[in-house]
Amino acid sequence: MRTHYCGEINADFIDQTVELCGWVNRRRDHGGVIFIDLRDRSGLAQVVYDPDVEDVFATAEQVRNEFVLRIKGRVRARPEGTTNPELSTGEIEILGKELEILNHADTPPFQLDDEDTSEELRLRYRYVDLRRPVMQERMILRSRVTRLLRNYLDDKGFLDISTPMLTKATPEGARDYLVPSRVHAGKFFALPQSPQLFKQLLMMSGMDRYYQIVRCFRDEDLRADRQPEFTQLDLEMSFLDEDQIMGLMEEMIRGVFRDALDIELPDPFPRMSYAEAMRRFGSDRPDLRCSLELVDVADLLQDIDFKVFAGPAKDPHGRVAALRLPGGGKLSRKDIDEYTKFVGIYGARGLAYIKVNELANGVNGLQSPILKFIPDEAVLEIMQRTGAEDGDIVFFGADKAPLVNEALGALRVKLAEDLGLMSDAWQPLWVVDFPMFEWDEATDRWHALHHPFTAPKIEHVELLASDPGACLSRAYDMVLNGTEVGGGSIRIHQEAVQEKVFALLGIDEQEAREKFGFLLDALKFGCPPHGGLAFGLDRLIMLMAGAHSIRDVMAFPKTQSAACPLTQAPSEVTPSQLRELHIRVWVPEKPA
Ligand code: AMO
Ligand code: AMP
Repeated sequence: MRTHYCGEINADFIDQTVELCGWVNRRRDHGGVIFIDLRDRSGLAQVVYDPDVEDVFATAEQVRNEFVLRIKGRVRARPEGTTNPELSTGEIEILGKELEILNHADTPPFQLDDEDTSEELRLRYRYVDLRRPVMQERMILRSRVTRLLRNYLDDKGFLDISTPMLTKATPEGARDYLVPSRVHAGKFFALPQSPQLFKQLLMMSGMDRYYQIVRCFRDEDLRADRQPEFTQLDLEMSFLDEDQIMGLMEEMIRGVFRDALDIELPDPFPRMSYAEAMRRFGSDRPDLRCSLELVDVADLLQDIDFKVFAGPAKDPHGRVAALRLPGGGKLSRKDIDEYTKFVGIYGARGLAYIKVNELANGVNGLQSPILKFIPDEAVLEIMQRTGAEDGDIVFFGADKAPLVNEALGALRVKLAEDLGLMSDAWQPLWVVDFPMFEWDEATDRWHALHHPFTAPKIEHVELLASDPGACLSRAYDMVLNGTEVGGGSIRIHQEAVQEKVFALLGIDEQEAREKFGFLLDALKFGCPPHGGLAFGLDRLIMLMAGAHSIRDVMAFPKTQSAACPLTQAPSEVTPSQLRELHIRVWVPEKPA
């Protein structure tokens, strides 16, 4: 129906006749001349209709936004002063000779260029929303990145193998989406949270190198970078150690950034231990674009009368940390109240601070409601340790360590964003040396930091018995600008070690058999050493596209409340469908 795409037409086409198809982005009447901006995936072209061809002009007058047209016309240079350098087609216009309305369109539910359209409305009419050039660019980028990833992996000998969607629960730590079985009354499939166990079985099957671009399902609380249904680039390799795996993966990511965005990422990516990341940045996915750091000060505050600090300073699970903000002395009372509210979201019960006016005057040059509670020497030592200078502010967090880490970890990034202190470099890193286990106070037992198939460091296997808390794993996470884009590990390939880890996690023999019997069996029949990782493809594309939510790089995402405004899913089903599935629905009564 057409000879070209709209966005392809430029000055090289002058005097040629072209035929284009697309949507009406905008129609303008200018003193008897009609301008139509015709839009397709490639861009916009301006088509002009003069009244001298009467019937064509009459058709042009009927045209409204989002009508679907086919046009034919001659390309000419735009008159001087009317060129548009922002458009690839900005030097030319098309003098329309023919015009066919392929379809009418109702007035769109929102203006495509209206920045204030609610996301709910955009998702309800996603097919209109996806016509926006920015969304089209994101889908094009996504497709391109996927192709680059596939090419790289194909070159490196990876096999693309599918794994089941109707399967058994996998332990990635979220709630499962369940699918009732009609044939087996009372039994359920689980949709995979990841293909973890299947990809390990593929290594045991001798496939050597596997990858899959695969949908994963997790029923968890949603955020900007979490969806119930998301896509992983999932990988597994045999006979490679963690350094080789990390090396391959960062080479792949560097290549994709180079080819898709013309960006050179560092070679190699820096590595940081989990312990260092938590200590300096309060996070296992530190955003290194922000240079603000947490500084421990508990040792100086154990014996003071100020319980807010002394309590956590003495608690082996507590943390008291300072965060220096250069130039922060100018923050107002109101600003500080806002930041106190901000850390409150993470459960912090306050945000103590010291403003540094004139350090030459010792504590008299400082300003803070808590000075009276802390001995002068301790205050001055804190100033020294944080490197405070005149004009700075030093914030404090004191509580259980995880809470302080979360609150001050988030605050450092927030402060840097608010005060324009974020660098605009790309900051990838590997976080390594994760602990195998974390003590979960709520359930009073060990909990796997990655998943239960992650191998302990070879030299730490003994610690499984003697000191599980000190046992480090062979796991690694790839972090980019504060987002965990991928994570994985070398796996346990020996049955005895796997059983020990299950036992530590409080999974007894019977439960292990029921849930993972097939894996334990497979470990007996010749399992190669293997490892791998999975990238959150949506997150990677989000970062590459400069989007703020993974919803913006998914064609048909769900809302924050895990629903689809377009199809109205999830929806009710008929009683007979439920009967067939052997399900009786229990609907809680609404409170009066
Ligand atoms: P993990 O659970 O860390 O590891 O997931 C891997 C990556 O997937 C992305 N991700 C998500 N993206 C969007 N929405 C979600 N709800 C979501 N959850 C996770 C993250 C994360 O880094 N089987 C292991 C991998 C392995 O060990 O090989 C796994 O799934 O970017
Ligand atoms: P209070 O004595 O509770 O009024 O607290 C004095 C100062 O310490 C105030 O600036 C509070 O914001 C701050 N503060 C209170 N609890 C904490 C905490 N857990 N961590 C950091 N600062 C706190």
